[in-house]
Amino acid sequence: MSFDYESKISKAVAAVPPSAIRKFFDLANEMQGHVISLSIGEPDFDTPWSIREAAINSLIDGYTHYSPNSGYIDSRKAIVDYLGRSYGLTYDPASEILITVGGSEGLDLAARALINPGDEVIIVEPCFVAYKATVEFAHGVPVIVETKPENDYKLMPEELESAITDKTKYIIVGYPNNPTGALMTKDDWAKIRDVLIKYPEIIVLSDELYCELNYLDGKPASLAQFPELRERVVMVNGFSKSYAMTGFRVGYLAGPKELIAPMVKIHQYCIMCAPSTAQFAVVEAAMNADNEIAKMRDEYNHRRRVIIQGLKDAGLDCFTPYGAFYAFPCIKSTGMTSEEFCEKLLLEKHVAIVPGNAFGKCGEGFVRISYAASLEDIKEAMKLVKEFVEEHKG
Ligand SMILES: Cc1ncc(COP(=O)(O)O)c(C=O)c1O
Repeated sequence: MSFDYESKISKAVAAVPPSAIRKFFDLANEMQGHVISLSIGEPDFDTPWSIREAAINSLIDGYTHYSPNSGYIDSRKAIVDYLGRSYGLTYDPASEILITVGGSEGLDLAARALINPGDEVIIVEPCFVAYKATVEFAHGVPVIVETKPENDYKLMPEELESAITDKTKYIIVGYPNNPTGALMTKDDWAKIRDVLIKYPEIIVLSDELYCELNYLDGKPASLAQFPELRERVVMVNGFSKSYAMTGFRVGYLAGPKELIAPMVKIHQYCIMCAPSTAQFAVVEAAMNADNEIAKMRDEYNHRRRVIIQGLKDAGLDCFTPYGAFYAFPCIKSTGMTSEEFCEKLLLEKHVAIVPGNAFGKCGEGFVRISYAASLEDIKEAMKLVKEFVEEHKG
């Protein structure tokens, strides 16, 4: 007799497939010999030393206990200071900031705090894999708006508007974008603001994890900067990408206290608090690491140019990304699907990248290449991609 596990699992959880990115990590790990990995959405830099030191010192000083649920007040104040400096935004550290376990927890908290079963959530694809899953886990209904290379993968106001119904609870936007590297400028956001003003009930969840990785003007741009929307924009942000702090597992939500409070409630019951050590690192990161992140940004920008040129040389069309650390070239000219392209490239050339359809159906025909890797690896990988494309012509 075997136990019927299948019938015990929540239907909402069972219906969500495992992330397609995982499959390619696992394949790459199983491969014999050296594999160049341009598949990971994680900085190859180590966390700047001063940030690590702040974390170490907190342990030496005995901060090995729970923090307040929303986070240490000094860490929240440091985040508020950063948001003021970089975005010109003002938040109350006592009630409008919640320190989370990475940006990931922020996405989940928003879904759980806002969605009633059947509520629709507009998701702009291609996008980070967690958006759709968190909505589905919370019994929401994802409504997909697809962005296109001919529009530089920007969210188009008319396309957003046509997806809005009276069931729309919130919209998730993620720029600078994973996986395309697209940016929305202040002017682009102004057009989205004009749509949202017509629908005063809709909340915005704005994922800005890559806000510092902007190679156009270096300045974050956000819907939260429009005073007309301030009361209904919740920003998901953090330190994982721009500060190379993925392992610290720390991020934050910033928004009006009426929306943050229910998220604090879930966080309080389910998580208690973000790691105390990481919260000390946050103070140093938010207050004193501007030069460190500028150095990393310059290096990514250099790699970005190399990768765009490499893709051009390989004969692959690629929209020019100005954000995050990804390129999203079109591989339709090879006649392969995204998965075939990635699988064959891995098996034949030992280069790991990710199929574009892992980030939404409209990513089919594209692949995500991360340039969070050494310049040496990027150059070698581009040589191999060129060989691969030539060998598979026709
Ligand atoms: C767009 C985006 N948002 C959020 C996250 C989650 O970040 P964190 O590591 O802070 O949980 C990621 C991670 O890849 C991401 O790409």
